[in-house]
Amino acid sequence: MHTPPALQLLDARRSVPSLELGEPGPDDATLLRMLQSAVRVPDHGKLVPFRFVRITGDARHALGEFLAARALQRNPEAPPALVEKDRSRFSHAPMIIAVVARIQAGHKVPEQEQLLTAGCVCFALLQAAQALGFGAQWLTAWMAYDPEVAKVLGLGEGERIAGFVHIGTASVDVPERDRPDPRALLTDWTP
Ligand SMILES: Cc1cc2nc3c(=O)[nH]c(=O)nc-3n(C[C@H](O)[C@H](O)[C@H](O)COP(=O)(O)O)c2cc1C
Repeated sequence: MHTPPALQLLDARRSVPSLELGEPGPDDATLLRMLQSAVRVPDHGKLVPFRFVRITGDARHALGEFLAARALQRNPEAPPALVEKDRSRFSHAPMIIAVVARIQAGHKVPEQEQLLTAGCVCFALLQAAQALGFGAQWLTAWMAYDPEVAKVLGLGEGERIAGFVHIGTASVDVPERDRPDPRALLTDWTP
């Protein structure tokens, strides 16, 4: 079967580990172009339950310093190697976009659906970054769920991190990994 270009892009998507992402990152115009595609997600109630926080330059290192301190506060016994990992997490890729889910509690659109929309944004941003020649990876880890990190990033009531999307120029060709076989995942419902 002929594979249309849109499916070729979907089929070619793969993450580039953030450690392998370097300069250059996207400039303002390129990032906005990516975001233009990323915001085009299914959105029940058109709530726009997401926003973006850009982390670049020295702000990445400052966040790393905060994370290292916070990691020790959370666990004073944390092994130094782990703390160093947290310190440098945001220092590899030139740009990290924190995709913030803005969840309206008690809305007739269930919270799950609002969160799913924010998840779609992360995915679309990965696709857009790759389509424009960049590598990207969607990461979370404990810092996506820590209330003090949320505060430092300026998140408000009802806001949470859907993902940190690290974006930069890939320094390696990432090998393909095994992908699920859709045939094994598909069943027919019979009444
Ligand atoms: C919500 C979410 C959070 C993730 N968080 C992490 C993470 O903290 N660390 C990590 O190594 N991979 C994480 N991943 C997985 C990577 O983004 C990526 O999917 C994985 O490396 C496999 O590569 P692929 O995208 O080419 O399949 C996360 C994925 C999702 C959807």
